[in-house]
Amino acid sequence: MDFDGIPLLDPQIYAQQGPPHDLWTDLREKAPVRRFEVPILEPFWAITRHADICSISRQPDKFLSAPGITPLPKDQGLIDRSQGIGAMRVVINMDPPEHRKVRKVASPWFTPRALQSIDAAVDASARQLVDDLAGKTGEGEADFATEVAVRHPLRILATALGVPREQEPKILELSNRLFAPDDDELGGGTQPEDFQKLGMEFLELFLPIIEDRRKHPTGDLASVLANGQIDGQPMGPMETLGYYLIVFNAGHDTTKNSLAGGMRALIEHPEQFERLRRDPSLIPLAVEEITRWSSPVNYMKRTAARDVVVNGQKIPEGDALLMFYGSANRDEAVFDDPFRFDITRNPNRHIAFGYGEHFCMGAHFARRSQAAIVSELARRVEHWELIGEPEWIAASFVVGLKHLPVRYKIARS
Ligand code: HEM
Repeated sequence: MDFDGIPLLDPQIYAQQGPPHDLWTDLREKAPVRRFEVPILEPFWAITRHADICSISRQPDKFLSAPGITPLPKDQGLIDRSQGIGAMRVVINMDPPEHRKVRKVASPWFTPRALQSIDAAVDASARQLVDDLAGKTGEGEADFATEVAVRHPLRILATALGVPREQEPKILELSNRLFAPDDDELGGGTQPEDFQKLGMEFLELFLPIIEDRRKHPTGDLASVLANGQIDGQPMGPMETLGYYLIVFNAGHDTTKNSLAGGMRALIEHPEQFERLRRDPSLIPLAVEEITRWSSPVNYMKRTAARDVVVNGQKIPEGDALLMFYGSANRDEAVFDDPFRFDITRNPNRHIAFGYGEHFCMGAHFARRSQAAIVSELARRVEHWELIGEPEWIAASFVVGLKHLPVRYKIARS
């Protein structure tokens, strides 16, 4: 238990080893609510047990999202919130009562019933990607992280948000710069001016779409956001843009990382993949297990609105709490044999999609899009094996693999 908070948050340590499961296991057992100091960030309480995270997430009046969902730099002067990304107020960092009003703008579009409108696009994307892998011969080598996991949610979200196909590479680049600023390959820098520039580029991309959907609404998500109203008033441009951003970014990075982690787990557990091939009715359970296993949103921050007590520990007003979902999803108090990947796990009370007030708005969307790929792979993969070490992204907020080199044999249709 003799460690500081750095390995819990340092992107470079995640790049080398992935999420710190050994440390979390220790913390869950010995210090489930523990305060850490780190050099450049505000101090934080690491919350590592499932029950404590659920309890905090159920009390948005005591544990606030508005002060931010990631730890702030110690020197807050480093961030200029008046421009760029910092100026956007988005649903994920709002508190009730405002949060509920803003959530209602888009939540009807995300119900399982409403999402039937994208069923055809989701299945077509999965089929196309696996067709591309199969190519002419039905066999080959590919990076399944970049060729499959990245492309599938990108295509579906771009379709829902009205982004023309030729601009997909651009939104992918922007999303990488936002979520993996520290990654040499994916990021675009961590300075305030880098984020301001990023905000402007998102604006240039999304504003013309917003304007178009205001004039010519269709039933797509882009139209729902462009014409959203709060208290009977149209949303302002920054609110609308912020909504676009959160939906695209929260939806893309997370789903791709879940899928990449899931494909790796299925390759490394061939007996599980075999069961899935024989019994496709297991796909919904498999998708839940993949999401638990990958837990792509590593943590969310809350700020104590007043002096509070969590699991017997006093926490002063204004302190930051980081709820580590990756840890909660391996909590031995909730999951039998939590480090076993088991596509038949049922019940599976994972909280990879969060819990309570801010429960992921895109959870059905994410389940549906992952199921399409898993199902296509289960139907068509005849053989797959890793041909190199999978590589982790240098990021500790949304975590996952950036490379997954695979040799495969896939049925051509
Ligand atoms: C495997 C994929 C995904 C995971 C693991 C995931 C995880 C999460 C988590 C943990 C939260 C809760 C944040 C909190 O409590 O502070 C959240 C919120 C949210 N997610 Fe997801 N997400 C995924 C996919 C998506 C998709 C596909 C979309 C949209 C297309 C989406 C949109 C959102 C939005 C808008 C919120 C904010 C909800 C609110 O503040 O009320 N997510 N997500």
